[in-house]
Amino acid sequence: MILVTGGAGYIGSHTCVELLDAGNEVVVLDNFSNSSRASLERVQQICAKRLTVVEGDIRDQAGVEKVLNDFGCTAVVHFAGLKSVLDSVTSPLDYYDNNVVGTHRLLRAMQASQLKRIIFSSSATVYGDPKFLPYTEDHPLNPVNPYGQTKFVVEQMLRGLFASDPTWSIGILRYFNPIGAHESGLIGEDPKGVPNNLLPFVAQVAVGRRERLNVFGGDYDTPDGTGVRDYIHVVDLAQGHVAALKSLDQPACFAVNLGTGRGNSVLDVVKAFEQASGRSIPYSVQPRRAGDIAACYAATDRAAKHLGGWQATRNLETMCRDHWRWQNQNPNGYGG
Ligand code: NAD
Ligand code: UD1
Repeated sequence: MILVTGGAGYIGSHTCVELLDAGNEVVVLDNFSNSSRASLERVQQICAKRLTVVEGDIRDQAGVEKVLNDFGCTAVVHFAGLKSVLDSVTSPLDYYDNNVVGTHRLLRAMQASQLKRIIFSSSATVYGDPKFLPYTEDHPLNPVNPYGQTKFVVEQMLRGLFASDPTWSIGILRYFNPIGAHESGLIGEDPKGVPNNLLPFVAQVAVGRRERLNVFGGDYDTPDGTGVRDYIHVVDLAQGHVAALKSLDQPACFAVNLGTGRGNSVLDVVKAFEQASGRSIPYSVQPRRAGDIAACYAATDRAAKHLGGWQATRNLETMCRDHWRWQNQNPNGYGG
């Protein structure tokens, strides 16, 4: 039985599908602060299998221990946390509480239950301003906002734990920019309010919920002047977790990038989404967004080595097609 914290969220729900499809039993622990139970109903519909849902908070150590023991969990895939860079700047203590204190309590509960296998959702944001590209895992870590700093602190906590007890198996996965949705169109990203990230915004323009996209910056030192990112299909990302779990059969502590190794600009994404949706995406170029960097993409060799040859296989066209299917079939997300 695998415990998936935050399993009702965007990446968690897609990972539950891959875990169930690979023959695992799954229990999800989620407080539904940024998700709904509907995503987990859809996961079960896709897989034609059941999973167990427990409403609870990772900061409740006794509650987590009870789940681990009641269900005989053998590993934890840990997604639960807050993820908005903007909110983290205005509410840093909420971020330290959920992401750092929450992970600390979860690890304590695991320790008490003698369970020592965990995969942790980190982010490329831990690298900060690129000293060189692609980012290798040895690139200096210098996160520049409270969200990224919470990921950095948790990574350090995990490394310290492994140094104290090398019988742990710890996989730290640094995600680049996950987009897309399951090919069924049944699950996908359902942000609350105005989306901060590019793809949900583009998709909402395509579906007619918003008038136009603001492109933040047209004067970067990139081929077309707009920001370049390493977009990765969320199903590729989810499959990376299944591969990581297998590799954690042995004690280890590693950090790997999950990206494609390729960069695409904002305008590349707009064009690909127009093609995938058959809709036009009006946009206007605006000043740069504070805190943004020109370009960001992953070195992928280490992930392939640690994750048994795993690599991302879906291209930008597929990412946009699948993202569009989800948005088009569910214009208001899980809200109907
Ligand atoms: P999400 O918000 O869709 O999912 C997170 C889930 O965790 C939600 O279901 C939420 O209700 C739950 N949750 C939050 N705090 C909790 C708590 N204290 N106890 C129990 N449940 C709690 O986010 P996502 O995009 O699926 O991201 C998953 C993880 O991956 C996060 O840790 C995030 O920081 C990390 N990550 C995401 C991205 C991205 O672009 N989406 C990039 C890098 C890293
Ligand atoms: C952001 C977060 C990062 C997080 C990632 C995935 C910041 C500074 N970083 O990364 O920590 O891991 O999301 O959740 O917020 N863009 C537009 N118009 C928009 C939105 C975005 O032009 O309306 C551009 C951005 O300037 C950037 C690119 O699109 O060049 C991607 O932006 P976004 O999707 O927000 O991801 P990141 O900034 O890479």
